[in-house]
Amino acid sequence: MAGNWKMNKTSEEARSFLGDFKLFVKDARDCDIVICAPFTLLPLLKKELENTNIKVGAQNIFYEDSGAYTGEVSALMVKEFCSYVIIGHSERRKYFNETNEIVNKKVKKALERGLKVIFCLGETLEEREKGITKQIVETQLREGLSKTTIENIVIAYEPVWAIGTGKTATPAQAEEVHIFLRELLRQLYNQEIADSTRIIYGGSVNQENASAILNMPNIDGCLPGGASLEASSFSNIIKS
Ligand code: PGA
Repeated sequence: MAGNWKMNKTSEEARSFLGDFKLFVKDARDCDIVICAPFTLLPLLKKELENTNIKVGAQNIFYEDSGAYTGEVSALMVKEFCSYVIIGHSERRKYFNETNEIVNKKVKKALERGLKVIFCLGETLEEREKGITKQIVETQLREGLSKTTIENIVIAYEPVWAIGTGKTATPAQAEEVHIFLRELLRQLYNQEIADSTRIIYGGSVNQENASAILNMPNIDGCLPGGASLEASSFSNIIKS
């Protein structure tokens, strides 16, 4: 259960969230909980969440360790503060022109530096309407994970048309793609990896729709954005 805060929260806002959230989820021992925060908040989250059941994640990294890359942050740097990183989010693909090739370089670097990767993929509305959803996610998975290991990767299916729109995929629509991705993992790796790899769903998940989505056999968790910004709604999603 990973919350994607995107470009939200000052330190003061994060502190106030965590005060409540830590209490709300302290007994949730049967799932992994991650908060993926902006870089500026990672030291604070590391400190506040030490010895809790909540892990810390970043939302991006650059694919080099150091050097003349003004404004970028490396896997080596975020590793000091967190254990997860989101890579390939559709907002990065759309606003920052991240191609499957760039995403692949970032995944490789993150794994090399010991981070767990939440690898995002998903089709646009236009692609869904053209009936090419499966081709699109297959290409994103094949190219994004080309020549990587799979053990420390969580796959997040996030249809672009469902992100931040309030229009969530129906549980059946999401499940159909999750089944497809699991079968693809079986073909690319093996049955054991297909069974054990977590495939989570993101796109307008909230406390009302989470349990129906999470009830689907191939949906192993979720990645809420907007609904992870409030301690009560994110913890209710986790409880469901
Ligand atoms: P949303 O975002 O829950 O606000 O739709 C999900 C995401 O982009 O990860």
